[in-house]
Amino acid sequence: MIRVGVGTPRQTQIPPLELPRYGAERLSGIRCIATHLKPEPPNEAALTAMALQRLDALVVLNITGTGFTRRGGGAAGYVKEAYLAHLIPQESEALLASAALSQAGSSTVQTPSWSVSPPLSLDELTQQDFLDLVENLEAEFQREFVAQQVDIDHDRVLIVGVMTDEMTPLRFHDTLAELARLVETAGGDVLQTVQQKRSRIHPQTVVGEGKVQEVALTAQTLGANLVVFDRDLSPAQVRNLEAQIGLRVVDRTEVILDIFAQRAQSRAGKLQVELAQLEYMLPRLTGRGLAMSRLGGGIGTRGPGETKLETERRAIQRRISRLQQEVNQLQAHRSRLRQRRQHREVPSVALVGYTNAGKSTLLNALTNAEVYTADQLFATLDPTTRRLVISHAETGEHEEILLTDTVGFIHELPASLMDAFRATLEEVTEADALLHLVDLSHPAWLSHIRAVREILAQMPVTPGPALVAFNKIDQVNSETLALAREEFPLAVFISASQRLGLETLRHRLTQLIQYAVDSR
Ligand code: GTP
Repeated sequence: MIRVGVGTPRQTQIPPLELPRYGAERLSGIRCIATHLKPEPPNEAALTAMALQRLDALVVLNITGTGFTRRGGGAAGYVKEAYLAHLIPQESEALLASAALSQAGSSTVQTPSWSVSPPLSLDELTQQDFLDLVENLEAEFQREFVAQQVDIDHDRVLIVGVMTDEMTPLRFHDTLAELARLVETAGGDVLQTVQQKRSRIHPQTVVGEGKVQEVALTAQTLGANLVVFDRDLSPAQVRNLEAQIGLRVVDRTEVILDIFAQRAQSRAGKLQVELAQLEYMLPRLTGRGLAMSRLGGGIGTRGPGETKLETERRAIQRRISRLQQEVNQLQAHRSRLRQRRQHREVPSVALVGYTNAGKSTLLNALTNAEVYTADQLFATLDPTTRRLVISHAETGEHEEILLTDTVGFIHELPASLMDAFRATLEEVTEADALLHLVDLSHPAWLSHIRAVREILAQMPVTPGPALVAFNKIDQVNSETLALAREEFPLAVFISASQRLGLETLRHRLTQLIQYAVDSR
């Protein structure tokens, strides 16, 4: 098939999804012949267009001639010289090294490698064996691709961040760092982060047109298979972006849902995750091309919801309402359990904190419970309640407290997830008091405290009094300690893993409980 476009190679590009084949492992099967009036090799824009469309080759014919007029009168031009350009595979080690270099928050564009021939005569050009060239190139691309895909369980992710006017650079940096950790927790490898500063989000594609091209090019050059945006995307935005980038595009909520899907253990947890996933998917069901099928695996494809994709919308809606009922029943069951607890009058404390603060570790250290801990976000999904016996040194009396671990908090917890996890978070409002654990070794500890407090403030029932405990003091310098002491004079300082300060914490917990029970 021959397609004729009027404009530069860049202006006449074919979008990835309309190409007969597309992917880092091969070329598209299309060759572009462009004519040019000036005797110059193809410029950067033309070569970039070649890379974006993964053209087999780009040939630029420089037309010149005596009878040729720019007004289109005569057509006596002839080909003076020609340039042949094509992509060349990059070594995966070189790629990884440059990706590692650019990880430190920068957004340098990965330039794809290409080769441009010296000026050729038309005769020389026609003597080129194109099929042979393309076959050899494809074989090399395939080898590189296989080398990069050794571990296909790991998505190769490009993160895209947009800094809008209302964001400070520090906040933006934290958001991106957190998203990178979320992606890693979900099992993806972050290859690079592309950033853009915009006063307003582009309604169709979030970032501007040029940036979308940069993302497509960088993703393609690095062999990424997934693009993750640092904000929620509308179904239409996802469709537009996927069409232009040629890769699966997911947003932050989808990454969090994926983590939830991998982590949920209990029946309640699994139900809630499935519910949230289905509700999230429903408006996004139509319009994804076959190439974007979510059944292949990877971030955004796991979890109980995935097989439902092909079933009808209505079947999904029915399932949603059934799940909703089950979740409600489980909640009723939980509240009966809680009533029994209150009846027994054993005071309860809910352990809250930003994700990865060390809540599970602390619960283990205090109660010897075997709660799963990992240096990952959201290691805990289901609330775990443990009995904690505190003996008073002076009186020798024993006192019992129920300590409940809760799901980790994050910035801007998506509203749909707030709903899905309300049963987990409700533990917080039912507790007599809160123990707010903070990872003081995290540079953004202050903003973590704020994020947790913001979410707590949105709870329908005001939680009881809270004690702040700063954790991981084994990893903290003296200035940070001094600052935290000054800002939070009533806080306790501990290290859950090194078991430092736990006695003081126990003591302060009994005081807190006393205060809470007295003011019940
Ligand atoms: P979520 O489930 O994500 O909410 O996490 P969590 O708050 O339950 O954190 P978890 O207990 O899983 O701990 C997170 C990481 O911090 C683990 O790698 C722990 O080993 C580590 N950690 C916990 N306490 C300490 C501490 O006192 N010092 C140091 N250096 N690391 C700690």
